[in-house]
Amino acid sequence: MLLCRRGKAFGAFALPAVMLLLLFVSPGGAIEESKRENVQVKSGKQLYQEACAACHGGDGVGLGASTLGFAVPLPDFSDCNFAPREPNGDWYFVVAEGGPARVFDKIMPAFGDALSKEEILKILDHTRNFCQDKNWARGELNLPRALVTTKAYPEDEIVWAASVNLDNENVIANELIYEQRFGARNQFELIVPFGWSEQVSGPDGDTEWTSSVGDIGLALKRVMFHSLESGSIVSLGAELFLPTGDEDEGFGKDTTVFEPYISYGQLLPADFSFQFQAGAALPFDTDRANEEIFWRGVLGKTFVLGRYGHAITPMVEILGSKELVSEADTNWDAVPQIQIPLNRRQHVRLGIGAQLPLNNTDQREETYQVYVLWDWFDGGLFEGW
Ligand code: HEC
Repeated sequence: MLLCRRGKAFGAFALPAVMLLLLFVSPGGAIEESKRENVQVKSGKQLYQEACAACHGGDGVGLGASTLGFAVPLPDFSDCNFAPREPNGDWYFVVAEGGPARVFDKIMPAFGDALSKEEILKILDHTRNFCQDKNWARGELNLPRALVTTKAYPEDEIVWAASVNLDNENVIANELIYEQRFGARNQFELIVPFGWSEQVSGPDGDTEWTSSVGDIGLALKRVMFHSLESGSIVSLGAELFLPTGDEDEGFGKDTTVFEPYISYGQLLPADFSFQFQAGAALPFDTDRANEEIFWRGVLGKTFVLGRYGHAITPMVEILGSKELVSEADTNWDAVPQIQIPLNRRQHVRLGIGAQLPLNNTDQREETYQVYVLWDWFDGGLFEGW
C-alpha cells in the first residue's frame, strides 16, 4: 500500500521535472511551448474579437453589407429567438469546418486549423453572452424526437407521421403536425390526423380505399424549468382533440378528449439521453371513450459521425397505459427506433421504428411507424442538402 502511494507521488513530481528539463535542453521547443501557452490564456472574448468580430461585430449582431463588402446576411447572435436554440454541437462544426459544413455560405471561414477545439468552445461560450435573456432554453436540451413520447423542448417544426399495422394492412394512419414557438417558453401545435382505409363497398365483397380526416387536435406546451448545467428540461402541456373524425371509418372517438401531460428531458453522460412523459386522456363523454392514463420513457444514445458531425440516435421507448375502468389491464409496449438526419444541415430528419406490444398480445398488434420532420426555423425544406 505505502510503497504504491510513494510510487505515485514520485510519478507526480518526476513528470513535470522531466518536462522542465526537456524545455531547457531544446530551446526551440521552449519557444513553441510558450507561444501555445500565450494563445491558451486568451479568453473567449479576446479570441472572438480577433477571429470573429471583423464580420460578426463586437456585439454579435453582425456587420452590414456596406462595411463587409459582401451581401450574405450575418446571423444575429444577440437574437434570443435564434442563438440559444442552436446547440454548440452544430455551431462547433460550422466554426471548425466552415459554413459549408451545414450548407451555409463559404464566406463563413473554417477555423479548425487555426484554433483548437477548446478555443472554439471558449469562443462559443462568449457568443452565448450576447443574448441576455436566460428564459430561452438552450438547444442542447432539444433531445431527439421519439416516435411516441412528446418532448419537453418547444419547436418550430412540421412533422408528417404515419403508422401501419402489417397484420391489418387496410388502414394507414397519418398525422400532419404543425408546431410553432411563441415567446421564450411556449409552443402552439395543430395536429391533423388523416387516414386511408380499405372498406367493403358492395354486396359482392368489393373493396375500395377511402380517405378521411380524424380528430383534429390543438395543443399548448410551456417550459417550466430548464438548465444546461444540470442538463434537464421540464414542460407542462395539454392537447384538446375535437370530434371531427369519422368513427365508423376508425378515425375518431366521437367526443372531445382533453390530454394534459408533463414532459421531462435529461442529458446523460456519453451522449445518452432520457425522456419521460406522463399524462391522461380525458374524454368529455365517457360513454363514448374511456379515461386513460399513460406514461412513456425513452432512452437514446447519439452518435456524432464523420467530419461534419452527422448525429444518429438509436432509441428505445417503453410505453405504459391503463384505461380507468374496473378490471382494465395495463398495456406495455416497446418501441425500438432510430432517428437519422436526411440532409447536411440536419434540420430534416427521419425517425423509423416498430411498436411491439409486450403483453395482451392477442388483442394488440405490432405497428410500424415513421416520421419526417422539418425544423422550418433552420431553413427551407429544400435548403441545406
Ligand atoms: C469573413 C467573415 C466571417 C468571419 C471572420 C467569421 N464569420 Fe461566422 N459567418 C459569416 C457569414 C457570412 C455567416 C452566414 C453564412 C450563411 O448564412 O450562409 C456566418 C455564420 C456563422 C455561424 C452560423 C450561424 C447559424 O446560422 O446557425 C456561426 C455559428 C458563426 N458564423 C460563428 C463564427 C465564429 C465563432 C467566428 C470566429 C471564430 C466566425 N463566425 C467568423 C462570416 C464570418
